Amino acid sequence: MPSVGQTTRPFWLTTLSKLEGMTKPNLFSGMQPSSGSLHLGNYLGALVNWVKLQDEFNAFYCVVDLHAITVPQDPAVLRANTRLTAAQYLAAGIDPARSSLFVQSHVAAHSQLAWVLNTITGFGEAGRMTQFKDKSQKGGVESASVGLFTYPMLMAADILLYQSKAVPVGEDQRQHLELTRDLAERFNSRFGQTFTIPEAVILKETAKIYDLQNPDAKMSKSAADTKGLVNIMDDNSTIVKKFKSAVTDTDGEIRFDRAAKPGVSNLLGIFSAISGHTVQELETRFAGAGYGTLKGDLADLVVATIEPIRDRTNALLADQAELDRLLSAAADRASEVAEATLKQVNDRLGLLPKA
Ligand code: TYM
Repeated sequence: MPSVGQTTRPFWLTTLSKLEGMTKPNLFSGMQPSSGSLHLGNYLGALVNWVKLQDEFNAFYCVVDLHAITVPQDPAVLRANTRLTAAQYLAAGIDPARSSLFVQSHVAAHSQLAWVLNTITGFGEAGRMTQFKDKSQKGGVESASVGLFTYPMLMAADILLYQSKAVPVGEDQRQHLELTRDLAERFNSRFGQTFTIPEAVILKETAKIYDLQNPDAKMSKSAADTKGLVNIMDDNSTIVKKFKSAVTDTDGEIRFDRAAKPGVSNLLGIFSAISGHTVQELETRFAGAGYGTLKGDLADLVVATIEPIRDRTNALLADQAELDRLLSAAADRASEVAEATLKQVNDRLGLLPKA
């Protein structure tokens, strides 16, 4: 079995689910509802893969609102963004008949298991998480919340509650997945076999989509300048404008070279991921063409992909009651699985069951 850090689609994803026949292995992943839209990095780095994996896995896809509140949120905006994130999952192709699409705070077991995992995590171990270091340094360590510090243990709880075999994420979540595996192994060895050890599923080609203005940094919703950030909910002319003003270089050659030509390489990577053509095919197609042609063609392709998702998102948001009903039913299904794991955990720990 390959270890965490898989960078291509592992063979066992297919073989495993075939072998297990009717009982598909479980899969968990989530995104934070911390902005008014998912971006192209979320979509290509994770969501596209989520949609594909629904066939082979019993998938749990979560809107992780408890993670979002580790930094300040406006309550009304958080509520709206939670529905919006769920609608974007559906619009991108998550099928609520096959996968459980739910909101993290609707299943209390997430917070409960997170507490237990906090008690077996070393302070130094948690302090080594690079996402915490980056985020806390941005606003100053003194003002960072304890929730931001314990964020990875809540993420581990999300994954372990569902006995997840696979966790499709972007590259930036690799370290959190390693911690999750360590915590699962630690608990199992101290208290007896309880958790499945999860594997990260990180697609090499789309593991990291870069900011269009700053192609050495990952595309991120917390970017100071949104000119390099392409959102699913951006209108078509904004998307075109962002691609047309993407930072490239001065040598004028359309060639993939991440170190020497990060801007052009990012554009080729996005083009390849969406079109299904290899980077080499694209280099041949654009040989001798100017950057303007590449940017224009890519902008058209992105618009053609994103526009229907945006339209479906808006249509889904128009029927809020139906969206809420769907989220509630999925949370009930998720709770059954989560509660069974939590009960076992509490029992192993020696917590006295309520009479
Ligand atoms: P979040 O909300 O920051 O991002 C959601 C997903 O999008 C991926 N991603 C990217 N992929 C490629 N290029 C980028 N520029 C890019 N930016 C974001 C992320 O890797 C992620 O897969 N901690 C998680 C949420 C979470 C979670 C979980 C994930 C909470 N519990 C359990 C998996 C399993 C996060 O912050 O994602």
